[in-house]
Amino acid sequence: MIKISPSVLTADFTSLGDAIKELDNAKTDMLHLDVMDGIFVPNISFGMPVVKSVRKITDTILDTHLMIDRPHRYIEAFAEAGSDIIGFHTEAGSDIGATLDLIHSCGKKTCLTIKPKTPAEDVFDYLEKCDMVLVMSVEPGFGGQKFMNEVLPKVTAIRERANALGMPLDIEIDGGINLETAPLAVKAGANVLVAGNVIFSAPDKGARLKELRECANN
Ligand code: DX5
Ligand code: ZN
Repeated sequence: MIKISPSVLTADFTSLGDAIKELDNAKTDMLHLDVMDGIFVPNISFGMPVVKSVRKITDTILDTHLMIDRPHRYIEAFAEAGSDIIGFHTEAGSDIGATLDLIHSCGKKTCLTIKPKTPAEDVFDYLEKCDMVLVMSVEPGFGGQKFMNEVLPKVTAIRERANALGMPLDIEIDGGINLETAPLAVKAGANVLVAGNVIFSAPDKGARLKELRECANN
């Protein structure tokens, strides 16, 4: 079963609560929260206070994607704010193994994340500490970009490695997912699809979520 993680990055934040309720009613698998610091990526989004507010209105799994410099400094803060999954980038300047351990010690799930140009092999040494691996299919920083097909072999390489280790690893893909690219990502081995623009550009977000999930599962 493929899971969909809608990204609220392009939401209208004055009515974020309504959008989340709509996605909850459509039984979303999780919610993807993109945290950007203007240093690791050239954009600034939101931080712990927004995660804390979202936590108050939903029981859905909060899948937090930290696009921040030296993320180990903020793991406890996001855990306290209510994140369920805490993802960070291999390229962000923290000790990878120690940060994965820190997330687990806070009782949260780990998600090790790589940018499009980072080789798949960079996550191999850490797979046993990963609950999920996120392969970016756009350069991180902005929603609404075009899917990069060239990352798909990395998804397959990570899936094969996890299978060889007998691990039921979640592999998430993030950026440019739509009704055409979702089946390609699934075929490559991804089982969690982040979906921003494809959902938030639709007049009926819940209906689009269901449509995407159906298309990804077929
Ligand atoms: C980009 C973010 C993505 C983005 C996805 O840096 O990590 O989660 O919001 O948006 P779409 O689906 O529009 O590419
Ligand atoms: Zn993201």
